[in-house]
Amino acid sequence: MGLQITPSGQACGASVTGVDLTKDLDARTVDAIRAAWLEHLVLSFPDQAMSDDDLERFTLYFGPFGDDPFIAPIEGRDHIIAVQRRADETSPIFAEIWHSDWSFQETPPAGTCLFGITIPPKGGDTMFANQYKALDEMPDALRERLAGKKAIHSAARGYAKDGLYGDGDASDRSMDIRSSDAALATHTHDIIRTHRETGKQAIFSSAAYITGFEDMDEEASNQLLMDLYHWQTRPEFHYRHKWQPNMLVMWDNRAVLHMATGGYAGHDRLLHRTTIGDRAAA
Ligand code: SIN
Repeated sequence: MGLQITPSGQACGASVTGVDLTKDLDARTVDAIRAAWLEHLVLSFPDQAMSDDDLERFTLYFGPFGDDPFIAPIEGRDHIIAVQRRADETSPIFAEIWHSDWSFQETPPAGTCLFGITIPPKGGDTMFANQYKALDEMPDALRERLAGKKAIHSAARGYAKDGLYGDGDASDRSMDIRSSDAALATHTHDIIRTHRETGKQAIFSSAAYITGFEDMDEEASNQLLMDLYHWQTRPEFHYRHKWQPNMLVMWDNRAVLHMATGGYAGHDRLLHRTTIGDRAAA
């Protein structure tokens, strides 16, 4: 049986069956998955008992590995990080804010793969927000304010020594996060970017990693960032992803925001994550 792609019926997202990700994939299947990824932005593959080798092999069908700063890889691997939380952990939920992974990099990643290993019986959904749709439906007045703007991105709020995951973070966090002064570096990206594979325009990233806009005074810049955040995260752009063990999810960081959620206190949660690198803009 060939690939079956079932759209979520929400603002993005589709479930994919009829493929075994523990085996090598032929070029036709990879092309079909890529086309579905670009169309639906978030793909989930249930019932895939993947090993770390399988996860790495799958990732490399879609690009080189991206660079994962500030989080140590799992033992024995250079390109897999663990997104995890113990049942008794008190630290704030990791990544519980709308963001696009590592958008502060000079060449931010194209995508992310996340594989569910230990999934709590309730809570822990991952939220996605379609940023093509958010741009398409944006009121003219907000779009005019954003036109031509370059956003300044930085990891400082999260990963600097005084950031959320810095020196003041809860001492019982199970994720191996290593805050650093490297988080103070900045890179700028157009706030409205053309996706190099689809040619469509999307809003790129959010106030999680954007600290302001070039050539604007601080107050006006902050106001624009907040007005944008409220718009780009509206419920009509959402897809709520519910996890199962042995489920792989891949998403397109160039076209969606995502956010972790809690609601599973008293239960362990463990997922392995890889990053799909992108090509530098020409
Ligand atoms: C992430 O941003 O990669 C984490 C998503 C999640 O834990 O649901």
